[in-house]
Amino acid sequence: MKLAILSRNSKLYSTRRLVEAARERGHSVRVLDPLRCYMRIASDGFAMHYKGRALADYDAVVPRIGASVTRYGTAVLRQFELMGTYTPNPSDAILKARDKLRCHQLLAAQGIGLPATVFGDNPDDTHDLLAMLGPPPHVIKLNEGTQGAGVMLTEKPSASRSVIEALRGLYANFLVQEFVAEAKGADLRCFVVGDAVVAAMKRQAPKGDFRSNLHRGGTAKGVRASAVEQEVAIRAARALGLGVAGVDLIRSKRGPLVLEVNASPGLEGIEEASGVDVAGAVIEFVGGRSRRPRTRPTGAGRSLAEKMAVGNYF
Ligand SMILES: Nc1ncnc2c1ncn2[C@@H]1O[C@H](COP(=O)(O)OP(=O)(O)OP(=O)(O)O)[C@@H](O)[C@H]1O
Ligand SMILES: [Mg+2]
Repeated sequence: MKLAILSRNSKLYSTRRLVEAARERGHSVRVLDPLRCYMRIASDGFAMHYKGRALADYDAVVPRIGASVTRYGTAVLRQFELMGTYTPNPSDAILKARDKLRCHQLLAAQGIGLPATVFGDNPDDTHDLLAMLGPPPHVIKLNEGTQGAGVMLTEKPSASRSVIEALRGLYANFLVQEFVAEAKGADLRCFVVGDAVVAAMKRQAPKGDFRSNLHRGGTAKGVRASAVEQEVAIRAARALGLGVAGVDLIRSKRGPLVLEVNASPGLEGIEEASGVDVAGAVIEFVGGRSRRPRTRPTGAGRSLAEKMAVGNYF
C-alpha cells in the first residue's frame, strides 16, 4: 500500500517505528507534516498539496496528531477521508477522544465503567455539584491537563470547594471525579488495534503520589490484561470509532474503569515495557483494511465519489 503518516516530526520514536514497520512489510511510506498540507475545497472535488506538489493516491493514512494541532490536523485528515483514503482513526473519532466531557458521555452511554464524574459552569452550583458526586476524597482534573499535571486530590469538602473556586477564577475548564483509592496509584494502559489488545503495561505511581504518569516518576512494566479488561478497552475504542487507541484503565472494586482514551498513543513506553512490536501490529491492521482495487475506474461516467477516491482529480 501507499501509506502516509501524518506527524509533525519524523524523528519521533513512534513515527520512526511506524515508518520502519511499514518498510519492513514492503509498503511505500511517507511522513507528512500536517501543517504543511494545504487544500482546495470546492463542490466539484477536493485536492490537497504538499510543498507545491499534489498528494494523490494514498491508500491509507495513519494520523499522529498532537493535541496542539488538533484542529488543523483533523481538517487535513478529513480531507484525506473525503478523497477516499483509509484511516484507522477518522477525524471525528479523534475529536471525540480529545474532548474529555464528550468522551466520558459517549462511554457512559455505552455502559462502559468510569469513575463517577461531575462538571458544571456556575459557582453558585458548586455545593450541589459536589453533593451529586458524593463525599471526598475527590480528584479534580483540568481538561487541558496532561501527563498528570493538573490532576489534584482533595481530601475534604472545603478543599474541593476552594480548589474549584481557584480554577474558576482562572477560567480553567475542569471536571471532578470520585477517587478510586483501591487502584493504589496504578493504572493499566491497553494498546488497542482493531478488535484486540495487542500490548498492555501497568504503570505504578512513585511512593506518596496517586498519579501513575511516567513523567511524574511512575514506573511501567508489561502485563497481560485480563479478559474483562481487554473487553472494556476494546469497547471503549469502538465507542469512539478508533481503530488504534491507548485506553487507560484503573482497577476498582466494581471492575475496570476507563480514565482516558488516547487517539495518538505513544509507542515507546509500551514497546519497551511489553516487548511487543506494536508498530508492526498497527501497520498490519491498516494494510489489511486499506486494500483498494489495483485497477481504478477511469474515464467519463465516474461519480464524484469515485473521482474523489482516485485522489487528485484536478
Ligand atoms: N479518579 C481517579 N482515582 C484514582 N486515581 C486517579 C483517578 N484519576 C486519575 N488517577 C491517577 O492519576 C493519573 C493521571 O490522571 P489522568 O490520566 O486522568 O490525567 P493526565 O494523565 O494528566 O491526562 P491525560 O491522560 O488525559 O493526558 C492516572 O494515570 C491515575 O494513576
Ligand atoms: Mg493519563
